[in-house]
Amino acid sequence: MSFNVAIDGPAGAGKSTVARAVAKEMGLIYVDTGAMYRAMALFMLREGVDLKDSGKIVEKCVQADITIRYEDGIQVVYLNGENVNPYLRTEEVGEAASVTSPIPRVRENMVRLQKELAAHSDCVMDGRDIGTCVLPGAQLKIYLTAGSDVRAKRRYDELTAKGESCSLADIKADIEERDYRDIHREMSPLRQAEDAVLVDTSDMTQDEVINEVLKLCRQAKE
Ligand code: DC
Repeated sequence: MSFNVAIDGPAGAGKSTVARAVAKEMGLIYVDTGAMYRAMALFMLREGVDLKDSGKIVEKCVQADITIRYEDGIQVVYLNGENVNPYLRTEEVGEAASVTSPIPRVRENMVRLQKELAAHSDCVMDGRDIGTCVLPGAQLKIYLTAGSDVRAKRRYDELTAKGESCSLADIKADIEERDYRDIHREMSPLRQAEDAVLVDTSDMTQDEVINEVLKLCRQAKE
């Protein structure tokens, strides 16, 4: 049986940084499920689909063949055969993914792919519904969170370090809007699984969080 770690939590909690570090240290594959939803959103943007038209999204989503492969240990997302990794992490795609990912038809194929992958590989998978829906039998489930102020400030620091000008208030409003959509959607909303360990990173450094999660992984593996 494969060893699976599920990490869920709201946007900006640091899931991917922690998951990537833990995967490396523990020799697990890192599965970034958000990237798969982002690839679907990219497809809709490229096709010029009106994101308010969920009927159109449902109709179109069957034309998007999304797969993932591992190349030199890095997850590469393919959209109809094209490596779309370079286009996934923009604000525009993130915003669009927040609108398209609640649609059940969009989620079905992604969840099937994620389950298959975890059945065959030892992995750490991050997302919103991993512990509750995708991998309910995961050996370790973590709910990683932090206050929206803290998450907004981290994102602000990240963007300003890259030389981008942005407003802390706008970032915070955006994060809270995404939280609302993730928590209140009908299908697989963001919530802590009953058997998940809550890690609130508001007052923790990145290294402290990684060490805490590594400790939990080692305990779960024993
Ligand atoms: O974690 P992220 O920002 O890359 O996620 C992109 C979008 O996909 C975000 O709006 C939440 C959604 N998502 C989801 O609904 N379920 C997941 N398992 C992962 C992400």
